[in-house]
Amino acid sequence: MNISKTRKTYKNKSDIFHVEISPLKLFKKWYLEAEKKVSEPNAFALSTSFKNKPSSRMMLLKKFSTNFTFYTNISSRKGREIIVNESASMLFWWKEMQRQIRIEGTLSQLSLATVKKYFYSRPIDSQLGALSSNQSSKISSYEVLVNEFHANKLRFKNKKVPFPINWTGYQLKPITIEFWQGGKDRLHQRIEYKRNKNKWESRILSP
Ligand SMILES: Cc1cc2nc3c(=O)[nH]c(=O)nc-3n(C[C@H](O)[C@H](O)[C@H](O)COP(=O)(O)O)c2cc1C
Repeated sequence: MNISKTRKTYKNKSDIFHVEISPLKLFKKWYLEAEKKVSEPNAFALSTSFKNKPSSRMMLLKKFSTNFTFYTNISSRKGREIIVNESASMLFWWKEMQRQIRIEGTLSQLSLATVKKYFYSRPIDSQLGALSSNQSSKISSYEVLVNEFHANKLRFKNKKVPFPINWTGYQLKPITIEFWQGGKDRLHQRIEYKRNKNKWESRILSP
């Protein structure tokens, strides 16, 4: 299938270079704008790697301030990759706004207390779902997973769901953050911020 003619014209007028604020504040500004226009603005692609082989998957951002937080299973592929390489990148694509944000940095695991606090704030069925799934491991059929979920639902009816030991959270401390705004005639706007010690330095990049 040849899709070379698939082309969308961008005509956004907003000018990102007039924003004289830190990238963390700019992320918040864009995020608040995205919340009004994008169906799942917290969805991002997380890339990790093992022995120079990258892998990506979609994730949900759960918190951001100076770091960017998400939750997952430590025994998954990404979990195994993060243990040996803490470098990772996050990619947000907010199609409705013609905006992309790339964040690169280093990951660190959240404390067990923080992870547990978040785990028990989730709906019971999400807790049971996490308990029933050994993420990224082979299962003989989908029914096996569904049966495990229902068995756990009965087992822990009116009881506290046990915390799944492989469940965890990470925070990414950013080193580079790049904002991309789609523009007319493919003259997109890009601004890249790099952290130098505790100071952010910015430069405009050619699209
Ligand atoms: C929109 C979306 C959001 C997702 N959010 C998460 C998440 O927050 N945590 C998670 O572990 N997996 C999430 N997933 C599933 C992952 O994409 C992936 O399938 C899973 O984490 C296993 O990845 P791995 O085998 O590379 O570790 C999400 C998938 C989609 C499509």
